[in-house]
Amino acid sequence: MEWIERRKLLAFGEDYGTSYFKFGPATLGNKPDMFENRGYFYTPTRVEQALGAPATRVIVGPDLAQYLQSTSDLSKLYYPMRHGTISKDDEKGWTIVKEITRYALNKYAPKPGDPQYPGFKGFWVAAAIAANSPNSMYERLIEIHRELNEESDRPLVQALTIIPQPLAVAISQKQIHCIVIESGHGNTQITPISRGIIYGAMIPLNRGGQDADNMARQLLRDLGYQDIAREEKIVTEFKEAVGLIPLDLNRAVSEAKRDPRRFKAVFQIPEAGIRIELEKESWQRFLIGEYVFNPSHPEFESYYSRGFHRPLDTPLPWGTIPGDASLAQVIRESLNKCAIEVRRYVTSMLILSGGNFSWRAPPELSGYAVDAPTKIKYELKKENIDVPRVMMASDPQYSVWRGCIFYATFLKPEIEWDSKSREGWVLFIRE
Ligand SMILES: Nc1ncnc2c1ncn2[C@@H]1O[C@H](COP(=O)(O)OP(=O)(O)OP(=O)(O)O)[C@@H](O)[C@H]1O
Ligand SMILES: [Mg+2]
Repeated sequence: MEWIERRKLLAFGEDYGTSYFKFGPATLGNKPDMFENRGYFYTPTRVEQALGAPATRVIVGPDLAQYLQSTSDLSKLYYPMRHGTISKDDEKGWTIVKEITRYALNKYAPKPGDPQYPGFKGFWVAAAIAANSPNSMYERLIEIHRELNEESDRPLVQALTIIPQPLAVAISQKQIHCIVIESGHGNTQITPISRGIIYGAMIPLNRGGQDADNMARQLLRDLGYQDIAREEKIVTEFKEAVGLIPLDLNRAVSEAKRDPRRFKAVFQIPEAGIRIELEKESWQRFLIGEYVFNPSHPEFESYYSRGFHRPLDTPLPWGTIPGDASLAQVIRESLNKCAIEVRRYVTSMLILSGGNFSWRAPPELSGYAVDAPTKIKYELKKENIDVPRVMMASDPQYSVWRGCIFYATFLKPEIEWDSKSREGWVLFIRE
């Protein structure tokens, strides 16, 4: 099995998320490289043009922030993924995807003559995209990788395979019968798996960390911080710092109203002169977390009646899932679509992954604030759904990338890409 040994050096993972692109070779170990999945169409200043810079170019990667000058520049930033997918005709979006991919591969491709990589012909790349991605996304990603090879003076990609994100999670946890719930910034994929994805039972919800951001933004506005509420990055930081998942929202809110000091939070960014203290309003911390799991809780009615938007509905071939359906109800809906005999295997384990399930549960608030698996178990029990094991993928934000690495290492080289089953390798450069 000589090829497996080589693959351990050559496997490369790419996870295209709505907020972050996670990437890198197997040699990075447990943690991928990552930066925001976005680009900036930059027109150089007159000074730069005089010095010979091209008219407009796309800036991507960790240094992008250096090109932003004022808050108005933020609107020139483009995030290609919408709820985990890109439409076929979004040329701006595809340009950015191509550039971030070029950046990622170039960063890790060995220099010619590197003794660790004798005869390097490119990486064996596994790219992960949302499970509900249309065929056009598969085709375009293949095309982009082919072009990147052609446009480079050294090989970058020897072969490419594409895998749905929830399947990558199951692989990273070495499970073939389970339900994976992958919740990132833009979407939440409820995916029963039995040796492969049960596509007829999968539900891709248009809900993710960005909805929790919306709730956090609303709270900031209500607290009188209109300016801060306009800065997306700060809203996200505020959400991650103060948001809490309640075990039971009513109980948590009434306890926090009774003893607000215990639930107090201070959010500060000294370099921006920001300091927000939540004490009297500390009960609102629980609204941010609850919203991810159950946006139809009556507590949110007053927000909707003031014009706050519900998460988007999900249209499916067999009906529409309302945007505010609770996660437990959606899990039930998904299980109902699995054949009864399969259900027993599938429900043996539920795996949570994605950044949107990475919430901290401060031990001093135990019983009120909990982590995502505890919340899901509690909500499933209320719905009388029996799932013996609910677990969190280790390092949930990176599990898709880790699954990519595993898949790219062990998928046999002779399996050719089949566009119907969407399995196998697109071989760009022969051995
Ligand atoms: N500790 C945390 N507490 C709460 N939310 C968090 C935490 N860490 C990350 N997040 C949220 O997780 C989201 C990013 O997760 P992830 O990287 O899995 O998404 P993505 O892959 O970019 O998007 P998607 O998979 O939906 O296309 C953001 O909304 C971020 O605020
Ligand atoms: Mg993701």
